[in-house]
Amino acid sequence: MTTTTLPALDTNELEKLSNLPTELALQGAAPLLAQLVRDPAFLDAHVLPLLEEARRVEDWYVAHRYDAQDGSYSLQIFVWPPGTRTQIHDHTSWGAYCCAVGSVLEERYERSDDGSQFNHARLKKVWQLSWSRDDGASTVLPYDEGIHRVGNLGSKTAISVHLYGPRIGDVDGRDYDASRNYVCDRTET
Ligand SMILES: [Fe+2]
Repeated sequence: MTTTTLPALDTNELEKLSNLPTELALQGAAPLLAQLVRDPAFLDAHVLPLLEEARRVEDWYVAHRYDAQDGSYSLQIFVWPPGTRTQIHDHTSWGAYCCAVGSVLEERYERSDDGSQFNHARLKKVWQLSWSRDDGASTVLPYDEGIHRVGNLGSKTAISVHLYGPRIGDVDGRDYDASRNYVCDRTET
């Protein structure tokens, strides 16, 4: 992963967004991402070169990451080779993402336990949707209100652009193992 500067990106706009209350920030983040993934300058500089690189990798990864100096937002470009997917997880911030190339499948979960037992979480799947560029951005709220898994079940590489807001916890989020009703904190990788 490379930390990079991002030409063709209005970082003032990102800064403004990251200062807004969550709901308003997400209302702004979705169209911003939808516009960004259609911006030829952004695609040429940051997305299309990844298609070549993606042929040589087996798992999904974050190819570019641009973090605000004060940590108030993080813009990340994910590469999804065919057949790859995340664990079920959540985030300690709001998040929004939009596909730039191909499509990803997102599964969304809710907890059916009361959260009182350490490292225990019982999940139920509430929906799954395929997202491509024309579908706009998917958004998640922090913690339990954004438990999801994202992956590429297609036969072609997918690339998505993600924007995360300020963290409200010390860790990056939590990872879930639904097969054994397990949850644990995820520290930054
Ligand atoms: Fe996520």
